[in-house]
Amino acid sequence: MAAEAAFYPPNPAVTERAHVKSNEEYKEMYQRSIDDPDSFWSDIADGFYWKQRSTNKHSENLDVRNGRVEVEWMKGSSTNICYNVLDRHVKSGSGSKVAFFWEGNDPADSSKITYEELLKEVCKFSNVLKGKGVKRGDRVAIYLPMIVELVIAMLACARLGAVHSIVFSGFSSDSLAERILDSQAKILITSDGVYRGDKLIPLKDIADGAVEICQKANFELKHCVVVRHCIERMNKDRTNGVANGASSTDAIKWNQSLDLWWHDLMDGADEWCEPEWLDAEDPLFMLYTSGSTGRPKGVLHTCGGYMLWAATTFKYSFDYHEDDVYFCTADIGWITGHSYITYGPLANGATSVLFEGVPTFPDASRYWAIVDKYNVSKFYTAPTAVRALMTFGTEPVKKYKRTSLQVLGTVGEPINPEAWLFYYNVIGDGRCSIADTWWQTETGGHMITTLPGATPMKPGAAGLPFFGIKPVIVNDKNEELHGPCEGYLCIKQSWPGIMRTLFGNHERYEDVYFKPFPGYYYSGDGCRRDESGYYWLTGRSDDVLNVSGHRIGTAEIESALVEHDSVCEAAVVGMDHELKGQALFCFVTLAAGIDFTSELAGQLKQQVRRKVGPFASPDYIQEAPGLPKTRSGKIMRRILRKLAIGSDDHGDISTLADPAVVAQLSKGRSLAIRVAAS
Ligand code: WTA
Repeated sequence: MAAEAAFYPPNPAVTERAHVKSNEEYKEMYQRSIDDPDSFWSDIADGFYWKQRSTNKHSENLDVRNGRVEVEWMKGSSTNICYNVLDRHVKSGSGSKVAFFWEGNDPADSSKITYEELLKEVCKFSNVLKGKGVKRGDRVAIYLPMIVELVIAMLACARLGAVHSIVFSGFSSDSLAERILDSQAKILITSDGVYRGDKLIPLKDIADGAVEICQKANFELKHCVVVRHCIERMNKDRTNGVANGASSTDAIKWNQSLDLWWHDLMDGADEWCEPEWLDAEDPLFMLYTSGSTGRPKGVLHTCGGYMLWAATTFKYSFDYHEDDVYFCTADIGWITGHSYITYGPLANGATSVLFEGVPTFPDASRYWAIVDKYNVSKFYTAPTAVRALMTFGTEPVKKYKRTSLQVLGTVGEPINPEAWLFYYNVIGDGRCSIADTWWQTETGGHMITTLPGATPMKPGAAGLPFFGIKPVIVNDKNEELHGPCEGYLCIKQSWPGIMRTLFGNHERYEDVYFKPFPGYYYSGDGCRRDESGYYWLTGRSDDVLNVSGHRIGTAEIESALVEHDSVCEAAVVGMDHELKGQALFCFVTLAAGIDFTSELAGQLKQQVRRKVGPFASPDYIQEAPGLPKTRSGKIMRRILRKLAIGSDDHGDISTLADPAVVAQLSKGRSLAIRVAAS
């Protein structure tokens, strides 16, 4: 086992005013949360508004051997999360506090919105949705860039008890359509487009493509609501002959029977909307995430437990205080944005920065310019962003003061010690606490992290379990390991923020998360526990890929590849990548008579970008006359991962139906075509 890593103590300035000031205090609270979770969470729930409060204790069965897997927290209590994140603060006199500083892609574009103003806009849009027939339980698909309307739309759904299903604006028409069809959404909300850096993403055009696919599948959306966001620039760029990627002759196409402008609908909408009082266990939102097999899974979170979880983890993991300015660089289209841009910060009455752009536009110091502009004290980003910014050296960082920073968070993948040290020493000037937060779409919020004022940090380790979390490491035989060890990371008892089901597919929920290691929730991650009880995540132990902190299922990429006429079969694996964490290496078996050329490789790359989204772009494509399969036909990705990196150590290949394919692929490795942009 590796030597014990050095401890970095918390930043003393953070400790001084922290909610939890020492490891002992953390341990004491943690123990209470494990010994009596109901009273621990009931105390926390006291800080929220409940229309009705039941005395029900939580109930759970995580063990498939005992029947249906089920989790309930605070069932019988009624509340509304929108009321808790907005009305509650306005009523207590904080209405004039800024909820969001919006910072546009172009540094000259910015605005702000207070809690009071946000509430008014949310009420108006709730009334708009109501007027269009959206009711409690209906699904609403949201495909928007990082603009305030995205927050307004999601909170309006929450106010009505409608289930929002946000699709990241980097997804393609096909992926969006698939998600609309699976969720049977009534309404789609999008914008004309969005500029990220110099590049236009023609969202309305992509949404139109999705609508068409839905129509072909005999599914009719009721309406498509369109936010007018950048059409002036889109038109101007078109007039000036700048290609903007939209396929229509006008900057956007308009479908009279379906499309409605957001601003027309909001014009004159009533400024008050009574919230729907929902059971704590009623659904709040669904969010698709990738698994190792099959189509994306609609992870479903509920109102009460998720609210407590997002709010409490935000408060403690970032040691939030009223005078903080918080900036999370994630996109709301992913779970990090749901929990730590919208619900967690707003539940705490925080002031946040909502950033539309990219870290390298207009230059690589953009984050630090924003930090100084708003005096950001708590900053949350992904290791891939830190690594990308490291390549520009220290100069873009040092150009700005960053003296307001106190806590730096990271999420999305294990952070390599080199990136951790750059984050700590250069970005944080050696005086900020780092919170490496391990969690997942499925967990709703942080699960393992250090607390900024209490727990010493180790570069590369996520740290210790959050309140209420009982991590266990198990081996292949489903045996719980003790002390320092390495194995599969599972969780032993439920917590308020755990997803309750996969939308419309409870069986798959049980199969994926509870059957692999009976008695536990299985995270899909490998993990090591060291002498100090710290958890070190070692990456996915299933076939899920993690590219730039985005979860991608191998099955999604493979099905995009085989849809190309020239491809019979495909297998995709991840290989280590300096910046992105993982790069995509694709093996393709071609149809008879097709030659593997760089033109074809380019087409296949485009096919994946079109079908899944540009963020899932392949890096290498290799022709595979055959794939290493077991006799039962299962592709042995373990071997493909070795082949991708050119390793000769292929492990045990005796169980393969045809071991000769390994030598063949090994020989062909030098002919793999690199399709990634350099
Ligand atoms: C990985 C993102 C190591 C992990 C919130 C997990 C991490 C998957 C960390 C979930 C971290 C996330 N250290 N690995 N701090 N945070 N991961 O659902 O493999 O998009 O299972 O949620 O990201 O990705 P998801």
